[in-house]
Amino acid sequence: MSPVSAVPTDPTPPISPPISMPISMPARLLMGPGPITVDPRVLHAAATQMVGQFDPAMTAAMTEVMALYRTVFATENEQTFLVDGTSRAGIEAALVSLIEPGDDVLVVVFGRFGQLLVEIAGRCGARVHTVEVPWGEVVPVELVEEACRRVRPRLIAVVQGDTSTTMCQPLADLGELAHRYQALLYVDATASIGGNPFETDAWGIDVATAGLQKCLGGPSGSAPITLSPAAVAAIERRKRVEAGIRTADDDSAPPAGTPIASNYLDLAQIIDYWGPRRLNHHTEATTMLYAAREAARLLVAETLPAAIDRHRRHGEAMLAGVRGLGLGVFGDVAHKMTNVVAVEIPETLGSTGGDRVRAAMLTCFGIEIGTSFGPLAGRVWRIGTMGYNARQDAVLLTLAALEQVLRAEGVPVSAGGGVAAASEVYAG
Ligand SMILES: Cc1ncc(COP(=O)(O)O)c(C=O)c1O
Repeated sequence: MSPVSAVPTDPTPPISPPISMPISMPARLLMGPGPITVDPRVLHAAATQMVGQFDPAMTAAMTEVMALYRTVFATENEQTFLVDGTSRAGIEAALVSLIEPGDDVLVVVFGRFGQLLVEIAGRCGARVHTVEVPWGEVVPVELVEEACRRVRPRLIAVVQGDTSTTMCQPLADLGELAHRYQALLYVDATASIGGNPFETDAWGIDVATAGLQKCLGGPSGSAPITLSPAAVAAIERRKRVEAGIRTADDDSAPPAGTPIASNYLDLAQIIDYWGPRRLNHHTEATTMLYAAREAARLLVAETLPAAIDRHRRHGEAMLAGVRGLGLGVFGDVAHKMTNVVAVEIPETLGSTGGDRVRAAMLTCFGIEIGTSFGPLAGRVWRIGTMGYNARQDAVLLTLAALEQVLRAEGVPVSAGGGVAAASEVYAG
């Protein structure tokens, strides 16, 4: 095949329909670090008509969602439900409900989303301590233990898969460690759950939050959460039911702890909303609940081990493929998440080359790959293989397109090397 001499980076701009027309978006294959192309079955479920918030059909669906997400999180936790909002809403709900002002909180940082936990914990009034390693590494458990000895935190907060670096922090020992120091353990599993092993109960995780838009193959806008009995007890001691729905029983039991500063993200009240009391709080984001239910239903039907295997296989194929093109991969690959790879941008492309390549991938092939932030800005592309797009055709198409775009940019990639290397993984 002769190389393309140029891939146009600025073809005819898409024609916007007039504002009087229904919304219309170009077809895209979303191969970045998330959001990803939504599984059509999830989109279909989300188009289901509304029912009233306390309709028995709705409350039954809420109960089903709780059961489905217990399987997703690998937990028996009764308190497993959805926080309405993107993943960040789940993170904030967990931290604002767990942290009392002045608490010592230890955050394990190895990328941008660890920094986000620092930011949010600080806003909750915590005395924040960090244990940090350079981007591209994970944090050894010994460093966390040393910090626990020094700080005696009430809470340890950590991200499992930090998409900013693609690293997947080992968690299996952290629950036991946290509990030995009388701390609770919070994990942000937004980008990893469903595509990497995650064991809430077996690993002693007290609170975990997630999102739909990565390995779960759904849209952004709902944050599944699970809370251990110990976490629930810590939150319930801060419970104050709001005026207007408070009963005499609530009045007679003022909170023992500081009231939770957020109303919308107050997990003590949200627990009562999802629980048998069905105490009015927000209006459930019904459409997102339908999507969350379908995303979890599909995962449970596939089974977690099979879904993790699928992510591993397509992730390995993408990794082999980018290497087969002659490109470098950032970070400690032994600790890479299954579902995203950070590909080093060839220096010959210059400072704007990374963006030019992404633009050409989008405009010429309809494929989105990810940019990067912080110390990695301009240094890597992040390419995801997750959820609905953890598929052979999506992987091979992305590699073939990347090859053409790089050739047009004058990067000496090996002809067909990406697709061939990935195909070998599939053949194996
Ligand atoms: C690990 C991690 N945590 C949190 C978030 C924030 O999620 P959202 O944008 O849905 O609020 C992301 C998004 O990429 C993420 O990768």
